[in-house]
Order: sequence, then structure tokens, then C-alpha cells
Amino acid sequence: MIERKKAAVIGCGMISKNHLKALNNMEQAEIYTVCDIEKEKAVKAGEEYSVHKIYEDYKEVISDPHVDVIHICTPHNLHGTMAAEALAAGKHVLCEKPMALTEAEARAMVKARDQGGVQLGICFQNRYNEASVYLKQMMDSGKLGTLLGARAQVTWNRKPEYYENSPWRGRWEGEGGGVLINQAIHTLDLLQWLTCGIKKVQADISTKRLKSVIEVEDTVDILMFGEHEERLLFYATNCYVKNSPVELEIICSGGSLKLEGNQVITEADGKVTRADYTSGSVLGKDYWGSGHGILIRDFYECVETGRPFPVSAEEAMKMVKLLEAVYQSGKTRTAVEVGTGKG
Ligand SMILES: NC(=O)c1ccc[n+]([C@@H]2O[C@H](COP(=O)([O-])OP(=O)(O)OC[C@H]3O[C@@H](n4cnc5c(N)ncnc54)[C@H](O)[C@@H]3O)[C@@H](O)[C@H]2O)c1
Repeated sequence: MIERKKAAVIGCGMISKNHLKALNNMEQAEIYTVCDIEKEKAVKAGEEYSVHKIYEDYKEVISDPHVDVIHICTPHNLHGTMAAEALAAGKHVLCEKPMALTEAEARAMVKARDQGGVQLGICFQNRYNEASVYLKQMMDSGKLGTLLGARAQVTWNRKPEYYENSPWRGRWEGEGGGVLINQAIHTLDLLQWLTCGIKKVQADISTKRLKSVIEVEDTVDILMFGEHEERLLFYATNCYVKNSPVELEIICSGGSLKLEGNQVITEADGKVTRADYTSGSVLGKDYWGSGHGILIRDFYECVETGRPFPVSAEEAMKMVKLLEAVYQSGKTRTAVEVGTGKG
């Protein structure tokens, strides 16, 4: 029989619901404790899931000897410190995106993980979507020939209230950016994961519609160059009237792939095929993807068996570096080298 890992969820806001629901459905885990600086949120979640303990101070979660795995579901600027402290104390950490706001913070997390001898995973759950898995297999198979370029687009809607009711969203200090680092990060992650290492970026960031409520960008467009001069385009905005399906297209010398929401069009060997990858179970809002539950289950399996978790710190670090370069480019209006490449 598997020994159930004792889970702690720090931050009992919107996304914690996805983590708690997923954990509640897993036999590998039990929800041992929840924590929030706003006590009533922790109490509410704690009562719903009949936890053993409720904390207001995350440091007490980290020093609780019963806790095996910590889920970090707090504002962006807290991820780096909380994760590094938890990892150094020997706790496995599953951290919400973004991994951290700076490469320096991300490196400190990796150092703490290695010192603690534990697993660190980041929630890029859309990598687990069935459509994403298919696209990755196609790209890795080499069936489409050489990569020439790709593009992706996220046109969503965030109302002023989304920011007004939150002390950290919309602020450079708390969120570290706007539509790019919070909403579109998943699609940019998919774009780079499916294609190539990004060497250089030229970006425009602007606040077009939400200027009266946020200081960060609500719109971004990026031209990116890959290691072999592949050209990638990315556009994201929170100024649209709805959360439209994400679009992503990859052009190769021998064919192409196109994703629209969960629909995939493949052009290969002179034939065009269409497939619908809409999966049955969706935790939370469908435009976040249905992968949260699958990702969390996989993380616990990795903790149990010692298999390295696929959405590792090294994988997520690529996005930390890329985002730093994009924001620098957007703010300075110059092209910026990312200097990471693949791996
Ligand atoms: N993977 C996804 O698709 C996805 C979707 C939404 C949000 N997220 C991420 O989840 C994280 C949280 O977002 P959210 O929308 O749930 O935000 P939220 O504001 O609804 O929740 C954050 C919670 O953290 C608590 N908190 C703040 N400081 C704390 C501290 N020092 N100790 C303990 N608790 C503290 C707040 O009181 C709040 O309840 C962010 O990193 C966000 O980007 C991920």
C-alpha cells in the first residue's frame, strides 16, 4: 500500500481550489494543512477539506515535521522565497507559475532543491493537455522536417474588478508584469517547448485599456529568434471581449501544425487531418486547460518513485529568463539576447 504524502497548500485564493480538488481525489496524498495570511480563507478551505491544522504563517508550515509536500499558491513575488525556504528544509515543492520573478531567485530555488535532495515542480499544466502531448510527439518525431517558424496568440478579457479586488495583481512589485507573466505565460511556454531555444527577443509592451487600474502591461507583442534563425511571433492581450481559444501554429519544411483551443490541424505527407482533443475532465476554468489534476498526480508519482518531474525547475527557468528578456526589451525598446538556448 502507498503511504499517503501529507500535503500543505500555502495561499487559499482562486487557484488553490484546483490544487485542493485534485489532492482530494488522489489516494497518494492527504491534505494535511492549509495556510493563508487571511485566516478566514484558510479556515474556509480547512473546513471544506477537514484538514488537521490551519496556519497563518507559512514558516510554521515549513517547520511542521509532518508535512511532506508544499503547494505554493501565493502571489508571484513570494514564490522564490517561500519555495527556497521549503526546499532547504527538505520539503518537496510544487509551485504555481511563474517559478520566480528573476533568474537569481530561480537559481536560489534550484540550489535549495539540490541541498534538500527533493523534487521541485512548476505548474505549467497545459503541457499535459492531450493536444500538447500530441504536438510535442510530432515535433520530437522529426516527421515534419526542419522548423522554420511559429506563432501564438492569446486574446482574453480581464475586467477592472479582477485587478481592483486584489492587492498584488496589476503591480510590478507583486505580479512582476501583466498579461504576459500571468495569463499568456502558459502559451509562451508551449511555444518555446514545442519549437526551439530562443536566442533574442524584440518586444513591445503597453497598457491600452486598463491604464486606470494597473501599472503593468495589458498587451504584449514579441518577435523572437531561435538558435538557427527560426522566427517566432507572439501576441497577447487582456483587452478582448472574451477568453478566446488560444491559437498556435508551427511551420516546418515538410508540414505544419495548428492548434486552436483543443482542435489540431496537421499537414504532413501532403495530407491535412483534423483532430479534437477536448478532454472530458476539466478542473477549474476550461481556458486554463484541464491539466492541473494530471500534473499534480504526476508530481506525487515522481515524489513516490524518485522519477524526475518533467516540468522541472530547469524547464521553468527557461521561461524566467525569457520573460526577463521580454520585459527588458519592452521597457528599453531594444532587442535583448536571452542567451539560454535549449537545455
Ligand atoms: N496555473 C494556472 O493556470 C494558474 C491560474 C491562476 C493562478 N495561478 C497562479 O496561482 C498563484 C495564485 O494566484 P490566485 O489567482 O490564486 O491569487 P489569489 O490572490 O486569489 O490567492 C493568493 C492567496 O495567497 C494569500 N497570501 C498572500 N500572501 C501570503 C503569505 N505571505 N502567506 C500565505 N498566504 C498568502 C492571499 O491571502 C490569497 O488568498 C499565482 O502565482 C498565479 O499566477 C495559476
